[in-house]
Amino acid sequence: MENDKKILVVSGCLRKNGNTERLLRDFLRDEDPEELKTVYLRDLDFSGCLACDGCLKKPACVLKDDLREVYPALETCQSLILASPIYFNGVSWLMKKFIDRLQAYFHHNMDWPRRDKALALFTGGAKGYKDQFTGGRLETEIAFRSLGFEKNYWIQVPNTDQDPYESGSLDLRGRGEKKIWTRKEGGLWE
Ligand SMILES: Cc1cc2nc3c(=O)[nH]c(=O)nc-3n(C[C@H](O)[C@H](O)[C@H](O)COP(=O)(O)O)c2cc1C
Repeated sequence: MENDKKILVVSGCLRKNGNTERLLRDFLRDEDPEELKTVYLRDLDFSGCLACDGCLKKPACVLKDDLREVYPALETCQSLILASPIYFNGVSWLMKKFIDRLQAYFHHNMDWPRRDKALALFTGGAKGYKDQFTGGRLETEIAFRSLGFEKNYWIQVPNTDQDPYESGSLDLRGRGEKKIWTRKEGGLWE
């Protein structure tokens, strides 16, 4: 796996090309593919955290599975994008399994390289209700913090059950400084 990519994208989607990955693809459309490394967690064979405390002594997970190939990219990327559907008010089980495996970084003060920004993209099927995305935000926020990202952003799209995310409906404005994301019709961006 190439570890010299500027942007690491991690998809915790179970469905290939579902709402969240369509949104992700739109979001990445202006990025240089040469700068991107995308990891689809559903294609990897990895365990959840076993709470073995093996990472208490040194900042590395002792488990030997496919995530070993992802850790170097996580440690060197400038920006990180996590994409997940909302499941039971939080990230998907697949994304949560990945986040739990960041425990080694949570435990240690790492000497991170210069980090740019981290972003999480969420879609939720329900029309929009209080705290629909709060759990996902909290889960990804602690992941970003554990990885040394201070500038964090979220994009949240509700109502995909009635109104599936349509490719091309993301309208990016002020991506540079202002970081305002809007959807052309309906939806809610933050
Ligand atoms: C197990 C499961 C749990 C879900 N829980 C929620 C939920 O708590 N809130 C919500 O708004 N949508 C929920 N949904 C709907 C998904 O978030 C929604 O369909 C999403 O857009 C799916 O993304 P995808 O097409 O990328 O898989 C759930 C779906 C599944 C399969």
